[in-house]
Amino acid sequence: MARGLRSMEVIILPDAEAVGKEAARRIAELIRRKPNCVLGLATGSTPIPCYRELIRMHKEEGLDFSHVTTFNLDEYYPIDPRHPQSYRYFMDENLFNHINIDKSRTFVPYGLAPDPYEHAEWYEEQIKKAGGIDLQILGIGHNGHIAFNEPGSSLASRTRVKTLTRETIEANARFFDRPEDVPRYAITMGIGTILEAREIILLATGEGKADAVAKAIEGPVTTMCPASALQLHPRVTFILDEAAASKLQRKDYYKYVHEMAEALKKQILEARMRA
Ligand code: GLP
Repeated sequence: MARGLRSMEVIILPDAEAVGKEAARRIAELIRRKPNCVLGLATGSTPIPCYRELIRMHKEEGLDFSHVTTFNLDEYYPIDPRHPQSYRYFMDENLFNHINIDKSRTFVPYGLAPDPYEHAEWYEEQIKKAGGIDLQILGIGHNGHIAFNEPGSSLASRTRVKTLTRETIEANARFFDRPEDVPRYAITMGIGTILEAREIILLATGEGKADAVAKAIEGPVTTMCPASALQLHPRVTFILDEAAASKLQRKDYYKYVHEMAEALKKQILEARMRA
């Protein structure tokens, strides 16, 4: 976690690769400082470069995941965890199978839970039992959703069953053989659950996310853009590529703030070394 009390920080990097590396660097820093940390993880195409970099860090730098616990944001319902489009399968394939994490400490909502409502409550309890989430990674949907909290979700919502919007089903249809195969429900952490993480990093890349990002950062806090709720969190960082940042009105200012903050940190470090 970066030093001191902060509020919201916006970091704009050249491309998706750089976004992934910066997120991985921050996750690795936390794991080294707190080996038994609790990570909140996301699926989707956006975090893939981050997971790739974490795998590289594990293989080449010995980054140790053996004491780490993870909670994924969401899962389709109903879906078999062995289905290639399930989020459990995604996490195994894109991260867990390539690092030394104890699989019994990787939580993803169970897509075949006989009672998904009960399962959602159980999931919340597991997060509490683990001591809460230290760092939550998020992506963002085109309509501003985080996890599967679609526009209209209560800002105080907890882990629960959600009915997916038609846009989300359409956006995700490309991953399934036939559009009618996309599950209609999901089990998802709520916005209230997400806001309880001690630190949040939202990743967004590509022009398709520019509108949602602008609304989330510079728009009003509204249930119509669930990601705007992050404005209420005391420690949140948006890591964006140029394309996803392209509709921010105060883009140049955010870049300037970041450069100035880095310069100040360097100065403090140098002064400390001289002392
Ligand atoms: C899905 C997931 C979200 C994710 C979003 C964006 O709806 N439930 O957690 O942030 O898609 O996905 P992508 O990163 O592929 O654009």
